[in-house]
Amino acid sequence: MDPMAITFDGLGVRFPSRRGDVVALDNLDISVAPGRIFGFLGPNGAGKTTAIHVLLGFLSATSGRASVFGCDVRETIARQRIGYLPEHPDVYRFLTGREMLRFAGRLCGLDGAVLDQRAEAVLQEVDLTAAADRRIATYSRGMRQRVCLAQALIHEPDLLILDEPTGGLDPIGRLLVRRIISDWRDHGRTVFFSSHELSEVELVCDRVCILARGRVVAQGVPHELAAPGERLEQFFMRVVVAEAAPANGGR
Ligand SMILES: Nc1ncnc2c1ncn2[C@@H]1O[C@H](COP(=O)(O)OP(=O)(O)O)[C@@H](O)[C@H]1O
Ligand SMILES: [Mg+2]
Repeated sequence: MDPMAITFDGLGVRFPSRRGDVVALDNLDISVAPGRIFGFLGPNGAGKTTAIHVLLGFLSATSGRASVFGCDVRETIARQRIGYLPEHPDVYRFLTGREMLRFAGRLCGLDGAVLDQRAEAVLQEVDLTAAADRRIATYSRGMRQRVCLAQALIHEPDLLILDEPTGGLDPIGRLLVRRIISDWRDHGRTVFFSSHELSEVELVCDRVCILARGRVVAQGVPHELAAPGERLEQFFMRVVVAEAAPANGGR
């Protein structure tokens, strides 16, 4: 059987601090099937970026484990199939968009005609062909976000991990990201992304998981989670507010 694209199995992450440990993730159990679009939701500080950092091997789990296509994330091989857009992408501003993408492609092992073809294809996909030979320093915030998204796509990864991909984008940019995410799934690949844009998430995701204070508070198909006639945004408010409220009435 095909392994899951992503598995978090009892994952816990704590950050030591002088005033006691910060529990960023507590016993997270999530499975993402291959070929699906999975939305990772939760208020600021819920633990989304921390979980993504574990997947990429930037952080070690305090307990439990995480795997990508059945391979423990601590193995280098697990990372080769991932394309990643960070929450706050940092770019080489002195390079042009095309130079940056060729550099990213080479780091992923692309070369020659394949590199040329992929660089042109991703520039077109994120609508940056016309600005490809300008330095990134002259790009708007939305253009920088899009060139970073192109960098995540260049090696045609089986799993795309996007941390708030629509942050800083105008409605046209958001639509473009939504189209790229859907296309990726339509080619049988997997997308795992965090977002606050619940109306967009509702439109594209096959499944979502809502995190609050490091724990999963809801997981499932968006329209099955929400009550009849309820929008995902309303459902989100309901479960996240319930999680934040003390269970014993404030005592
Ligand atoms: N390096 C760190 N050291 C200490 N605490 C951290 C660190 N990174 C994240 N945290 C804490 O972990 C929690 C989850 O953060 P994060 O994963 O960034 O949330 P999200 O991406 O959902 O907004 C927050 O309470 C945050 O302050
Ligand atoms: Mg985050």
